[in-house]
Amino acid sequence: MTALTLSTAGAATLRADVVVVGVAKSGKTLVVAPGAEAVDTAFEGRLAAVLETLGASGSEGEATKLPAPAGVKAPVVLAVGLGTAPEDGEAYGSEVLRRAAGTATRTLTGVKKAAFALPITAPEDAAAIGEGALLGAYVYTAFQDTTDAKKPLGEVALLGAKPRDKAYKAAAERALAVAEEMNRARDLVNMPPNELTPATFAAATQVAGKEHGLKVQVLDEKALAKGGYGGILGVGNGSVNPPRLVRVAYTHPKAEKTLALVGKGITYDSGGISLKPAGHNETMKCDMAGAAAVLSTVVAAARLGLEVNVTGWLALAENMPSGSATRPGDVLNMYSGKTVEVLNTDAEGRLVLADALTKASEEHPDAIVDVATLTGAMVLALGDRTFGIMANDDDYRTAIHEIAEEVGEQSWPMPLPADLRKTMDSPSADMANMGVRMGGGLVAGLFLQEFVGEGIPWAHLDIAGPAFHEGAPYGYTPKGGTGSAVRTLVKLAERTAAGEL
Ligand code: BES
Ligand code: MN
Ligand code: ZN
Repeated sequence: MTALTLSTAGAATLRADVVVVGVAKSGKTLVVAPGAEAVDTAFEGRLAAVLETLGASGSEGEATKLPAPAGVKAPVVLAVGLGTAPEDGEAYGSEVLRRAAGTATRTLTGVKKAAFALPITAPEDAAAIGEGALLGAYVYTAFQDTTDAKKPLGEVALLGAKPRDKAYKAAAERALAVAEEMNRARDLVNMPPNELTPATFAAATQVAGKEHGLKVQVLDEKALAKGGYGGILGVGNGSVNPPRLVRVAYTHPKAEKTLALVGKGITYDSGGISLKPAGHNETMKCDMAGAAAVLSTVVAAARLGLEVNVTGWLALAENMPSGSATRPGDVLNMYSGKTVEVLNTDAEGRLVLADALTKASEEHPDAIVDVATLTGAMVLALGDRTFGIMANDDDYRTAIHEIAEEVGEQSWPMPLPADLRKTMDSPSADMANMGVRMGGGLVAGLFLQEFVGEGIPWAHLDIAGPAFHEGAPYGYTPKGGTGSAVRTLVKLAERTAAGEL
């Protein structure tokens, strides 16, 4: 794991293997960003000019390495692009810094220690750089021979962040907790589905719970049958790996509010009897990303000691076809007492979430947020970097959208049009698990809403797009699991703790 330290040393004097500086576009010229003045001085004020000769433009995502001149302790300078320089007196945006730091660490595999001399004007900037750097250093090599592989960057030393200042120390600690918990979620998503089953996911939750003082309760298939969890059982019964419902709770003695988080945890989504065609199932190990984000958030709340109770519900099942699998046409008796006709076994996420939402509602939390890789329709609507937010409360939806923006996660508010509800009417049950195809993401949201307890503010995050990244890595985002929604949920818990929600 990459270490994060704060240092008072100057950019030219800290002993490190590389010093990272920022460069930006100012009109037609390239400028060195604040924080790296000492390095520029060692270049006799010509660092930007030298970089320009090497072809640097200051664009975001750009990384240029060059040897350091005499007067700089680190032998190598790495210049990362920060895009357009802000107006005089204004600071660089957090997400620009986060991404630039991630680009830097992705470039620095095999390096022991790098000094980050990027522009810091406030603790938030230090947090963004720390987060980006630790996230960019992430690699998933659990099932690879790494004897000859370069190791991720060993240590990130942040310059310009005052180590003795309480606010900076807290910012760095928060950045470490958030980044490591995002990386936990990434690990879970990247784990192959023959290794991560509902039972092993539950076991991993128990291990994390022990380490962080959380209360973990696991309902196995027998307990689920006894309790009447027809939705979770109906999805899990085609697999030799039986389902689980996990409750993982963080409590604070002074908490005044309880936030319930519900995560979709389909450890593999083959589609079931409504089998997905080839081309649509290669990445379906990612279908538990919602549950992973929920677990990570509960652990982060504990690590940060937030004054709020956070209860996570992980609805874990494997969706497989077999002789014991649910058939299209079957009617399930849900935990809520409602019956659901399964028209398409590939619309399984809403079935496991429905039972978990009913169960979570029984405890009367102050709010419920569910997170799920729920629909392909949401990916068609918003692309693969933006999650959709639906809610039964406009203010709550707006608040979550603003929080996501603040922490650097792309999201967009989506409606729950009441007229779509009747498209899920069924001739043989209280409702069907499918409605019209058009607006499929909203139909799924309307289905979930039916299982939320009366009067509880509820939001639904459909992270089917951003949960798993198939393209080339960029900024702090690697290929594979991304840790989507963790930052938003942690900030939401903090806001709830502060009594602002
Ligand atoms: N897990 C999928 C949704 C998904 C698609 C996640 C792409 C990530 C990337 C979900 O269970 C699913 O199969 N949804 C169906 C619902 C339909 C049958 C009503 C879909 O979106 O096609
Ligand atoms: Mn599915
Ligand atoms: Zn699914």
